[in-house]
Amino acid sequence: MKKTLGILAFSALCAFPGIAANEATVTLLPSKESPVIAKEIYGQFAEHLGTCIYGGLWVGENSSIPNTNGYRTDVLNALKELHIPVLRWPGGCFADEYHWMDGIGPKENRPRMVNNNWGGTVEDNSFGTHDFFDLCEMLGCEPYLSGNVGSGSVEELAKWVEYITAEDGPMATLRKKNGREKPWHLKYLGVGNESWGCGGNFTPEYYADVYRRYQTYCRNYNGNRLYKIASGASDYDYNWTEVMMKNARNQMDGISLHYYTVLGWSGSKGSAINFNEEDYYWTLGKCLEVGDVVKRHCEIMDKYDPKKRIGLLVDEWGTWFDEEPGTIPGHLYQQNTLRDAMVAALSLNTFHTFTDRVKMTNIAQIANVLQSMVLTKEDQMVLTPTYYVFKMYVPHQDAQFIPLSISTREIAARDGRKVPVVSATASVKDGKTTLSLVNTDLKNETKVTVDLAGVSAKKISGEILTASSMNDYNDFGQPEKVTLKGFTKGYQVKDGKLTVTLPAKSIVTLSLQ
Ligand code: AHR
Repeated sequence: MKKTLGILAFSALCAFPGIAANEATVTLLPSKESPVIAKEIYGQFAEHLGTCIYGGLWVGENSSIPNTNGYRTDVLNALKELHIPVLRWPGGCFADEYHWMDGIGPKENRPRMVNNNWGGTVEDNSFGTHDFFDLCEMLGCEPYLSGNVGSGSVEELAKWVEYITAEDGPMATLRKKNGREKPWHLKYLGVGNESWGCGGNFTPEYYADVYRRYQTYCRNYNGNRLYKIASGASDYDYNWTEVMMKNARNQMDGISLHYYTVLGWSGSKGSAINFNEEDYYWTLGKCLEVGDVVKRHCEIMDKYDPKKRIGLLVDEWGTWFDEEPGTIPGHLYQQNTLRDAMVAALSLNTFHTFTDRVKMTNIAQIANVLQSMVLTKEDQMVLTPTYYVFKMYVPHQDAQFIPLSISTREIAARDGRKVPVVSATASVKDGKTTLSLVNTDLKNETKVTVDLAGVSAKKISGEILTASSMNDYNDFGQPEKVTLKGFTKGYQVKDGKLTVTLPAKSIVTLSLQ
């Protein structure tokens, strides 16, 4: 049952009868027609939630924590290494209660509000539009604004776009008065968030009409061209995508999709650090299901948009576990183990295979919330295992996707799920091929034979992420328990074949030249 793949077919995966227990094969299928992996697949998300913004990214100019114009210097430096292409803000659910005018002008005059979605914390609006755009400039990334549809107005959203992008007029005058002479560039504009839930509890039919109305008044000023994003489905809600594509496709550039690796929405979501092998494999199986979910949403989109003009944007994804005991309820602070790193790698490998339609994804979230890149406590910061996956995968950004055929054993998991022992992805850029390989098996190393199909591998360098235990994580006091190391010995090339021995529970990226 080994399949050879069409360029963008989902990577073949099978319990290949001829494959020995601890072996797998990967065949590179390079093609000139293969699309580029949109760098925006490596997007991030920052919400006014817990300590993501306040404490995580922003401490203010007068803080004793080392900062650059109010932004944490340690976090900024760490994030710069990830080459973040796009940052989504200010939510999430928060976005549909956010009134942007409360976050401009002298900070001491800004009104306060209750963050009703996230623990009832009082928000002082000290981090607003100017601070977000400055942050994006410092990180060198595109801003992605999530507009308020649920509790806002058409006028409010239209004026936000004008404030940010117009050279002249009343909103531009206000912006200039607040210290920013030149307009900013704004490409990505989300019109609402989770409009089926916290963003207004709309039906898809009603939201499609509301979306059409709101987006009408979000204008392109002075050569700025908005990429308008409709609020899309949650995981298995295919009807939402169907209705939106049917009723509003001509008014949108993209539609979102949210998919969390989560046990369920009621009751316990399980501990982020105390889990057993069964939980580990279940989590990986649930994460991999995103492939089927994206495929079905893509099929619906293909019916209405066969030329793939409209992007599918998975603008929230990642693990969602119980909050760490002792932390503030509603702040979604969770630890991050090697299991999270596996989820990151498997998800990114999957998104790559849909790169003709999936034009952006945003992991939730960048700091101190859910599956974050960094965790902070006062003046300390740790980099999470997930951070290291994003670092290893930087070379895949804007590289040409190389389809693969994979034969591997599968491990049975709870609820009838199956987890492939080996997952892989490959791409090429500037004459350098990057091959990322994951061995999900907790106990056994796996020997992977890679048919290079003529790809040059005279010079190879590699990095590996693994740990002694699947439960290992980095924390204040033990910041480097799970960290990237050089991978120098586990591979060899002979007769056009690369053999790689992947240690148990490891993620390896090889650079071939
Ligand atoms: O990322 C946390 C929350 O998850 C977001 O605010 C919301 O959009 C989703 O339900």
